Amino acid sequence: MPPSFVWLNKIGKICTSAHEVLSELEINFNEDMVEEYKRVRVDLQRRYEISRLDYHIDYGLGLRSSELLYLIVRATRPKTVFETGVGNGQSSFVILSAIERNGVGQLHSTDISKKVGVLVDEPRAQNWHLHIMNTLTWKRELSMLLDSVGTVDFFVHDSDHKYSSQIFEYKLAYPKVAKNGLFASDDINDSYAYGDFATRMEARPLILIDEHKLFGILRKPM
Ligand SMILES: C[S@@+](CC[C@H](N)C(=O)[O-])C[C@H]1O[C@@H](n2cnc3c(N)ncnc32)[C@H](O)[C@@H]1O
Repeated sequence: MPPSFVWLNKIGKICTSAHEVLSELEINFNEDMVEEYKRVRVDLQRRYEISRLDYHIDYGLGLRSSELLYLIVRATRPKTVFETGVGNGQSSFVILSAIERNGVGQLHSTDISKKVGVLVDEPRAQNWHLHIMNTLTWKRELSMLLDSVGTVDFFVHDSDHKYSSQIFEYKLAYPKVAKNGLFASDDINDSYAYGDFATRMEARPLILIDEHKLFGILRKPM
């Protein structure tokens, strides 16, 4: 059963724009970055038009969550971003666009399908490490990969949204997130996992309402 708004309101703070989330997180961004993002959206739209998509367009992040990812990466200049779930590659495209602009940083992305990331073009892919895992052994592989990557500045879950898979990833990834780093998940309305996990961590996440889903984010304490 998907979580109700009443429950989400209890476990976190609901926000209605990327800018509101950034201000709550005390992340300073500027108008130039907002303008850049508009151009990235145009490029992304073009990629959508010319690419043969393997996933429905709704699999991609919502518009507000995409803007949030771009502005976070531009404003915080993370060394290591780690995401699970690539699909067509919208989130990867947005994160890599920001990394390219920063001139610093790497994105590690995991998936269990080989047919992913069609939206990501060169030279955006230069800072991309795409890890395709086996459907039967992905848990072990993810654990080993996170160990080898080391500290993660920004983690984003967008893979399998079953409670058991979400909570498994959260438990595995959270300890790898740097102090003061960011820990996010798309589709937190698909199960109670993000809310349960945040409560267990005594954290109060920000919950961004997007077109047809909710995106959660919290800052790991110092
Ligand atoms: C919602 S899509 C990702 C959308 C993407 N983040 C975007 O913005 O375009 C979900 C993806 O998760 C992948 N997936 C499913 N289970 C997974 C797992 N255990 N680990 C990694 N990826 C998984 C699917 O193959 C699919 O590509």
